[in-house]
Amino acid sequence: MKIEHNLTIALTKGRILEETLPLLAAVGIKPLEDLESSRKLIVPTNLPKVDLVVLRGTDVPTYVQHGAADVGIVGKDMLLEYGDTGIYEPLDLGIARCRLMTAGPQSDAEPPAMRRRVRVATKFLNVARNHYSRKGIHADLIKLYGSMELAPLMGLADEIVDIVDTGKTLAENGMVPLELIAEISSRLIVNKASMRTRHGSVQTLIGALSEVVSPREARK
Ligand code: PRP
Repeated sequence: MKIEHNLTIALTKGRILEETLPLLAAVGIKPLEDLESSRKLIVPTNLPKVDLVVLRGTDVPTYVQHGAADVGIVGKDMLLEYGDTGIYEPLDLGIARCRLMTAGPQSDAEPPAMRRRVRVATKFLNVARNHYSRKGIHADLIKLYGSMELAPLMGLADEIVDIVDTGKTLAENGMVPLELIAEISSRLIVNKASMRTRHGSVQTLIGALSEVVSPREARK
């Protein structure tokens, strides 16, 4: 793959990173250091013009919106929560699939439609606000940064809004998924200015990634 402009690609740490590296390898981008163990923040690749930065998912849209990174790979949940102003989202990479859901204790037998007021613990404040307001339910939102499943167990909240993958975390804590808010997968995002000024290189990258992604998508 021939990349003529300098490109900085912002990657999301954790499970998304594990699934991103094979995609990058498939298009011929190989980090020169082990991204999972290196403490280096900007990692060069085998392509002299391409650097990688590895960030928390919450920060990837910010780096790309401001043009500090030209391109990013981030979960759709982050785009729903933090907005997509100033960026394009040209490609669904189909990796790190999961669901953004409401969930509550198993014993909570009251159907969601019956509830008029609910205490909700989440790190997805904007997503939760929109979801409950669309349903005409008054939600008292409680911001947490992790382990949302604990909140109903400890009496801090009635429900949570969180990512559900296998459902194991919910089940092990006596909770059940309630309503689907959005199907999530990781997306390629591009800074709008970079799309103009580094058009050829950005398009080369989008084209190469879409070729390795589409056969996988087609098999599903
Ligand atoms: C996510 C999410 C759930 C869990 C769901 O947490 O917040 O806790 O994974 O996965 P499961 O349905 O397969 O059990 P993560 O491990 O990413 O950590 P976090 O609490 O920092 O978000």
